[in-house]
Amino acid sequence: MKWLLFGAAICLLCFHGESKTWSTEERRPRRQNSLEQTNEIPTRRAIYHKSSADPPDHNKLIEMARYVMHNCDWASIATISILPAIEGFPFSNVKSIVDGSLANSTGVPYFYMSPLDFTARDLSKNTRATVLVSLEETNYCEKHNLDPEDPRCTRLMLSGKMKKVKEGTPEYTFAKAALFERHPAMANFPPDHDWFVAKMKIAQIAMIDWFGGAKYISVKEYLAYNYTGNEMLHYYNRLHQ
Ligand SMILES: *[C@@H]1O[C@H](CO)[C@@H](O)[C@H](O)[C@H]1NC(C)=O
Ligand SMILES: *[C@@H]1O[C@H](CO)[C@@H](O)[C@H](O)[C@H]1NC(C)=O
Repeated sequence: MKWLLFGAAICLLCFHGESKTWSTEERRPRRQNSLEQTNEIPTRRAIYHKSSADPPDHNKLIEMARYVMHNCDWASIATISILPAIEGFPFSNVKSIVDGSLANSTGVPYFYMSPLDFTARDLSKNTRATVLVSLEETNYCEKHNLDPEDPRCTRLMLSGKMKKVKEGTPEYTFAKAALFERHPAMANFPPDHDWFVAKMKIAQIAMIDWFGGAKYISVKEYLAYNYTGNEMLHYYNRLHQ
């Protein structure tokens, strides 16, 4: 699927503003105020500080990788910037993600994006990205007194090409429902921002989950792995009891 290409004129306007989040009061018709287009994701976090089942044994690489992806609900995503002052530089942003529904993990990171955001703009020019998720997002590292950079505070760096998920397909229905399930705030994102569902077609998975350097996880085995951990489901069920 092709990414929308954006006119240079629009872009030149939008990158000068300070980051500004929208709120109900400030909501304005799309493109009326270009300064508001620099940060499209509201500050309101869905929920929490979660406490789910601890990660698997660090020797179980595939299971560990899938555990980390399934238990993280946001990611840093690095793209190649099209901002005029830093064109071609890596540029990192935060995105709320899921890798499937709470009960059904796929290992594939799914995103809900607006073409007005930094990331989608960069991707319109170059679909290559790297996504970082870390157990620092759960309470595991803090609980075990691990610095975020401690190798036992497992992190995954997934690199690949980003793709739009075609609207109306079963995958779109599944991914959108999964995103809204874990990120209820998405239901209140401004309706006029042309939201779409995107995913990464993973080319490489690097993981740091123990001492001794990075491990490279087979993408095929990672995707084929039947992850049956339902710690996220239990966690949310407890939360909403
Ligand atoms: C889980 O999601 C996959 C991918 O969308 C789908 O093929 C499968 O049927 C789903 N399984 C369940 C139990 O919902
Ligand atoms: C995954 O494992 C569960 C539990 O063992 C099993 O019920 C399910 O059929 C498996 N799914 C696949 C696609 O192998």
